[in-house]
Amino acid sequence: MKFYSIAIDGPAGSGKSTIAKSVAKGLEFIYIDTGAMYRAITLKALELNIRNLADETLYDFILDTKLEFVNDLMFMDGKDVSKEIRSEEVVKNVSLVSSLKYVRDILVEKQREMAKTNNVVMDGRDIGTNVLKDASLKIFLTAAIDVRALRRFYELQESGSSMSYDDVVADVMRRDNFDTNRLNNPLRQAEDAILIDNSELTIEETAQKIMHLFKEKNLWQI
Ligand code: CDP
Ligand code: CDP
Repeated sequence: MKFYSIAIDGPAGSGKSTIAKSVAKGLEFIYIDTGAMYRAITLKALELNIRNLADETLYDFILDTKLEFVNDLMFMDGKDVSKEIRSEEVVKNVSLVSSLKYVRDILVEKQREMAKTNNVVMDGRDIGTNVLKDASLKIFLTAAIDVRALRRFYELQESGSSMSYDDVVADVMRRDNFDTNRLNNPLRQAEDAILIDNSELTIEETAQKIMHLFKEKNLWQI
């Protein structure tokens, strides 16, 4: 049986997870948030009090860590960690943890396994360039830095954070920079990915555009 996959990559705050969720719902595909997987491993490393987070020999615990998505929630070792993985502490460290080759190798393998037996929409940084090189459709989603930072700022305000807009801009830029310049599977647009700048598009408009591209490219029967 043939399974379809849509890869969505792009910088922080470009709308990947919101739009990927909407596309997955529209097409009845499974949504896989690879960022949540890197965040969960970062959370566990912090919980285990790993002092030198840059030492990849300290990450053997990943082999025994169970990561699952249940109704778009991230479960780690049977516990819903969807809220904890959004904490400032995790945000501060996730780019470092996800730059480690050992961490990436294991999580990428898990991601590929998930796509082998399901139709998926998968979002992240290296989905089109590495995880699913043969994806049925590849999207590189972006938006202007001030738009992305403002979106993140509103989100943080709603969750009760007191981070200033300037700090949010700095954090988004720092992470984008780190993700783009790292050695292992950096953030970049795959040659065969379609670029969508959704600075001035709504979530619904962007999701519709992606579904349309998918149906067109894959001769999908509606
Ligand atoms: O939601 P946001 O775009 O802010 O981040 P995310 O998608 O939850 O990803 C968190 C971090 O995980 C990113 O800043 C990357 O450092 C890393 N990541 C990655 O390296 N590769 C992926 N496929 C997904 C995320
Ligand atoms: O996953 P990523 O970091 O790329 O972005 P996100 O978490 O999906 O989106 C960040 C915020 O921007 C969310 O609150 C979305 O609802 C919002 N958003 C928006 O208002 N308009 C869009 N076209 C895309 C996202």
